[in-house]
Amino acid sequence: MSSKKKVLIIQNIHEAGINLLKDNPSYEFEIFNEINDEVKNKITDCDAISIRTAKLPNEIIRTAKNLKVISRHGVGYDNVGLEATKDKGITLTITATANAVAVAEHVMFMLLNISKRKNMYDETVKSGKFIERNNLPKTIELWGKKILIAGFGRIGRALIKRCLGFEMKVYVYDPYVEQNTITSLGGEKINNLNETIKDMDAVSLHLPLTSETKNLINYDLLKTLKKNCIIINAARGGIINEEDLNKALNEDLIFGAGLDVFETEPPENNNPLLKNEKVFLSPHTAAFTEECMIRMGKETTQNIIDFFEKKLEKSKIVTL
Ligand SMILES: NC(=O)c1ccc[n+]([C@@H]2O[C@H](COP(=O)([O-])OP(=O)(O)OC[C@H]3O[C@@H](n4cnc5c(N)ncnc54)[C@H](O)[C@@H]3O)[C@@H](O)[C@H]2O)c1
Repeated sequence: MSSKKKVLIIQNIHEAGINLLKDNPSYEFEIFNEINDEVKNKITDCDAISIRTAKLPNEIIRTAKNLKVISRHGVGYDNVGLEATKDKGITLTITATANAVAVAEHVMFMLLNISKRKNMYDETVKSGKFIERNNLPKTIELWGKKILIAGFGRIGRALIKRCLGFEMKVYVYDPYVEQNTITSLGGEKINNLNETIKDMDAVSLHLPLTSETKNLINYDLLKTLKKNCIIINAARGGIINEEDLNKALNEDLIFGAGLDVFETEPPENNNPLLKNEKVFLSPHTAAFTEECMIRMGKETTQNIIDFFEKKLEKSKIVTL
């Protein structure tokens, strides 16, 4: 019998990550696109799983006899059955250091695209209507504007630097982060979300999807916002209620929204947000830069290797 650790890579990762396993005689691995019956069968006796966004539910995890570590390619882990992972004493790891900068840059990209009305202005020139330039609705600046960063973990902290670079005033809502930490990074801690959000020109969400944060941004809150407010969600679908957002945009309650994530992914074809001109969308690709895919691919397999070599850093392990 082979003494090599069996690793299942569910949904391929960058070859830089695969190479770490290829070059290591202690591991054998197989790559699959999805969790089908063949993979379910292999899960029963694998030692490690690398997983991207495919759902790995409790009932499948419970069938695993040797599984010691599940390595998430990314930082969110709402696709993994946490109950079974915890019950079986399996370690769940994330690529903690890989994607904060890529997502923070994506937020700036969305903010600028919306405030500068990229789609409309680009289309105006391309369709031969340059001459209309004085008749277009005006764009808005980020300079001096107030942005609320909700959730001040890895991504929130990468974002604040970029917002300060644009000379925005940054407010932070994260009940779990000390005031000193926020102040030392140039932000102002706020305690009452509902009160402060009314005064913001932009809001960017960087918190996990939990029962506490589901529908955090709903119609009742949206109708209190400033008319020039831009909302960005590059965290998880469901933190903003999509139906409420669409209604608020149609009623001109806010300036625009940028969404990288959706309640259902891919979004249903009849999701009205897909046709709403005030929304700027991307297909959950905030972290899909070439550089970030390399970092995430390497960190995903390195976390597995580090786990078995007993040198996995605590910051990469999810506390269950
Ligand atoms: N769009 C993408 O491709 C992409 C990529 C990476 C991460 N994400 C998502 O971005 C989010 C943030 O990731 P991160 O790496 O910064 O996570 P993180 O764990 O480092 O930070 C999350 C922060 O949210 C705070 N928080 C938790 N509950 C809160 C609440 N109810 N109110 C306010 N703050 C709360 C925590 O205290 C923590 O500081 C996650 O939802 C993650 O899944 C999306």
